[in-house]
Amino acid sequence: MTGGRVRLDGREVLSGIDLRVEDGDVLALTGPNGSGKSTLVRALLGLLPLSGGRTEIYGATPARFRDWARVGYVPQRLPMGGGVPATVREVVASGRTARQSRWRLASAADRAAVDRALDAVGLADRARDSAHLLSGGQQQRVLIARALAGEPDVIVMDEPNAGVDADNQRALARTLGTLAAEGRTALLVLHELGPLEPLITRTVRLENGRIAAETRLREPAPSGRRETLEQPAGSAA
Ligand SMILES: Nc1ncnc2c1ncn2[C@@H]1O[C@H](COP(=O)(O)OP(=O)(O)OP(=O)(O)O)[C@@H](O)[C@H]1O
Ligand SMILES: [Mg+2]
Repeated sequence: MTGGRVRLDGREVLSGIDLRVEDGDVLALTGPNGSGKSTLVRALLGLLPLSGGRTEIYGATPARFRDWARVGYVPQRLPMGGGVPATVREVVASGRTARQSRWRLASAADRAAVDRALDAVGLADRARDSAHLLSGGQQQRVLIARALAGEPDVIVMDEPNAGVDADNQRALARTLGTLAAEGRTALLVLHELGPLEPLITRTVRLENGRIAAETRLREPAPSGRRETLEQPAGSAA
């Protein structure tokens, strides 16, 4: 994103945002409530229009970007529900749809990816339960599993640890550690680095809709995956 600016309800919520997430980065976006973190994440993904500047995902504007299977997004609040009650497994399996041809049924690879994602968040034993009956922290883990199931190259999580207990925060750190070791990229909105601290390569702090501080903590893990990508790997956003 270059010179990114977002206005909502006539108020400038983000301005002058220059941010480039490099391949393999595990970037922590921090800042006080209302500083614009969720807005920035949504603007980077093209879910909110910019009122100035420009942004790209793997070299394409969000409107032209097609390869959504490469991107996983865990929103801060659940847009889950929507009428038909779905099981935990169904919600997690919906994370595969960007990878599936429209006419093809779920393959063994799809099912295996869903199983791995359920295991990673410790919800394998709840797979048949109705997702909307789970606790808030469990629903958050369902959304994380949905994003993991898509096996994205970049995973974007808005406060993945909010309302999540210490054991499950450590479980998420293990999962993200595996992804990072594979050279995948993560953009995480966090209030505290907590158990994720050893994985974080960069922190970017927002204040009043502007980048107030940036630090590089460590270099990204060398990527063994880049050569295997079908498309030239640019940088996210
Ligand atoms: N749809 C909207 N219309 C108008 N203002 C909005 C809208 N969404 C967010 N805002 C405002 O934009 C500012 C930034 O909100 P945002 O949700 O990005 O903050 P945040 O940094 O994610 O905060 P938190 O830590 O509480 O999640 C806030 O002042 C908020 O009131
Ligand atoms: Mg937020």
